[in-house]
Amino acid sequence: MAKPESFLVSCDIGSSKICVLIGEQNAHGALDVIGKGASPNRGTRKGNIINVDATIDAIKRAAEEAEIMAGVQIARAWVGISGSNVRSFNSRGVVAVAGKDREISRDDVTRVIDAARGVQIPQDHEVVHVVPREFAVDGQDGVGDPTGMVGARLEADVHVVTAPVAVTQNIVTCMNRAGIEVVELVLEQFAAAEAVLTEDEKELGIVLIDIGGGTTEVAVYQRGSIAHTAVIPVGGDHFTNDLAVVLRAPIGDAERIKKKFGSALRSAVEDDEMVEVAMVGGREPKLCPRSTLADILQPRAEELLALIHEDLQRLGVDKEMRSGIVLTGGGSELEGLVEIAEGIFEGPVRRGVPAGVGGLVDVVSRPEWATATGLLLYGHRHKTPRRRSRGITRAATSVSRFFRELF
Ligand SMILES: Nc1ncnc2c1ncn2[C@@H]1O[C@H](COP(=O)(O)OP(=O)(O)OP(=O)(O)O)[C@@H](O)[C@H]1O
Ligand SMILES: [Mg+2]
Repeated sequence: MAKPESFLVSCDIGSSKICVLIGEQNAHGALDVIGKGASPNRGTRKGNIINVDATIDAIKRAAEEAEIMAGVQIARAWVGISGSNVRSFNSRGVVAVAGKDREISRDDVTRVIDAARGVQIPQDHEVVHVVPREFAVDGQDGVGDPTGMVGARLEADVHVVTAPVAVTQNIVTCMNRAGIEVVELVLEQFAAAEAVLTEDEKELGIVLIDIGGGTTEVAVYQRGSIAHTAVIPVGGDHFTNDLAVVLRAPIGDAERIKKKFGSALRSAVEDDEMVEVAMVGGREPKLCPRSTLADILQPRAEELLALIHEDLQRLGVDKEMRSGIVLTGGGSELEGLVEIAEGIFEGPVRRGVPAGVGGLVDVVSRPEWATATGLLLYGHRHKTPRRRSRGITRAATSVSRFFRELF
């Protein structure tokens, strides 16, 4: 058996910044973070790469910083994929059990997963993930692993994630031109979930909301598996833009003001608290009540969270989230957001800070590092990487990986 690599590298190509982490497997088999690099990224919009050269530069800078910190050279990495063009849906497949005595074999399970993923996907898309959710044997639902059971009819529910080939190719091209091979592309929600959710929470039902710069990514877990994923083209940068427009302040200043004084909860801000706001065109800074900032930020926060809530209501899962909601990503750091979310979702809400790694824990224990940390954990869990290939082969390897996890 091939010896598992002891170093793992992750790369989160975010719209605000590119994060690179280097992890090392310790003597106990767990993962220690030994290197971290971050670089502002102007090359993506709404999660999609729009400027290849700018993205390559940012990847190189982040990778170099992490390499210097860890004292190792990066060759390949687990890379996140998301963006407004990624599509996901649930699908069901049915097969007749083939073997004698009608005992379900691994072969039957592979066939039923293939049948479930054999749905029409948009022509210019490729399959990124096929995640088995649960099986049914002769109509009996809720089977985790049907192998060895006896039955005539085997059904599988799977969650399929697809992305335009152009989007995946752009990511691979940028990584390769930065000198790094892509081990595997992983949906960013799946990665963030690895870092901030517990298995118990996924079992009971939970919604993960990752508020990034340009997009907000949602993942719903029920009965231990993924039930729904979505991307909303609104993120923390829209909050900053709102402030910049109303205050007539430069974007950079609006961003600083948001982080330092911003609140999404108007009722928690004193009426007479004043903050200094820089003005565009180098004019004299002016004093502005902090409540004005909350008046701008609260409606934006409510709008974003209400959109997600409506989506969950439409799917009929809003009442089944017994573990509540977890907010993560840099945008979740906005003061008052947890309270606003509690009001909208009428359930428990917490901020998700990455956990499950050792080493330089303090450098990654912020919500904005959830995806990069989760990519490391994902890579660690799926140690034997599959090589990047396209379409059916990728899905097939995904199924074989499912077996590795299962058995
Ligand atoms: N303390 C803070 N308060 C409010 N907002 C914050 C804070 N820190 C970071 N943010 C916001 O978080 C956003 C960036 O988050 P993050 O780093 O998770 O995004 P990203 O992963 O680069 O983007 P995306 O996921 O959309 O591709 C920015 O809009 C930034 O303004
Ligand atoms: Mg992100």
